[in-house]
Amino acid sequence: MLRDARLVGMPTETVYGLAADAADPHAVARLYAAKGRPRFNPLISHVASLEAAAAEGELDERASTLAKRFWPGPLTLVVPAATTARTCDLARAGLATIALRVPRHPVALELLQAFGGPLAAPSANPSGRLSPTRADDVATAFGDAVELVLDGGPCEAGIESSIVSLLRGEPARLLRPGAIAREQLEAFAGPLEAPAKGSISAPGQLSSHYAPEARLRLNASEVRGGEVLLGFGPDAPGDAANLSHSGDTVEAAANLYRMLRELDATGADTIAVMPIPDSGLGEAINDRLRRAAAPREPDPG
Ligand code: TXA
Ligand code: MG
Repeated sequence: MLRDARLVGMPTETVYGLAADAADPHAVARLYAAKGRPRFNPLISHVASLEAAAAEGELDERASTLAKRFWPGPLTLVVPAATTARTCDLARAGLATIALRVPRHPVALELLQAFGGPLAAPSANPSGRLSPTRADDVATAFGDAVELVLDGGPCEAGIESSIVSLLRGEPARLLRPGAIAREQLEAFAGPLEAPAKGSISAPGQLSSHYAPEARLRLNASEVRGGEVLLGFGPDAPGDAANLSHSGDTVEAAANLYRMLRELDATGADTIAVMPIPDSGLGEAINDRLRRAAAPREPDPG
């Protein structure tokens, strides 16, 4: 199916991806159309190994160090595109850089090995909505537009990969906090700077993103009329949904999208979310919650 420019739902250790042949502009165009994604948002090329990544992008010493430590795993590196890259311009949104990742999920790795080329795979959700952490979420969101979803079980991390850019003459930058905590990355990469001003800061140009139907109210200390509560930690009311009773941010990340989906399905107007500390995976969780709570704009494209 992938060789035929069709789309396949693919499990990864972070969230489910919607995969297409990254070398085929026709397949990539279908991907953008299925997601309803603004065209300026470039895609991640998933590859089977560090060697395959080195054919797509120029990995300097900093990039190789991070790749060797964290691949296969939930780290995406943005580097200059290599002249040998098979990933087409459309998948890179015409940029001179490329986003690369070797996923850790055994089904994703097997698929990549069997396919033998890069797969563009954005999270398998309509643009702006919650990312899927179960095969059923993908099938529900896309219906007939996606003919096949490989069911690899619920995603282990439950939140997207961390994205680090390593460009020539530039400091290492954390473009998107994700499934690897900043502290862990910085132990190998040194301090990570914020995205450069005016750059493609993943996926932050759209103020509202990763959003459920319900509104979100953050740092809630009480539940108001019309609200359901998303708790965190041992102090949350016992009957509320709780991202992690023990206050563990790794567990909370794994539960985040599923619990938001479940609370959304209650039909409540607003999901009130208790405060979550910024340490560990809390940085990524709070990033997603802020975007989900942002004012909703009409989709630009
Ligand atoms: O965990 C993940 O990364 C998941 C799974 C499926 O692998 N994928 C994912 O893809 O989250 P997506 O397309 O939803 O998000 C990729 C982000 C985009 O927001 C895009 O802005 C950024 O990566 N990106 C891609 N290429 C880039 C580039 N050349 N420069 C800066 N950002 C880039
Ligand atoms: Mg996404």
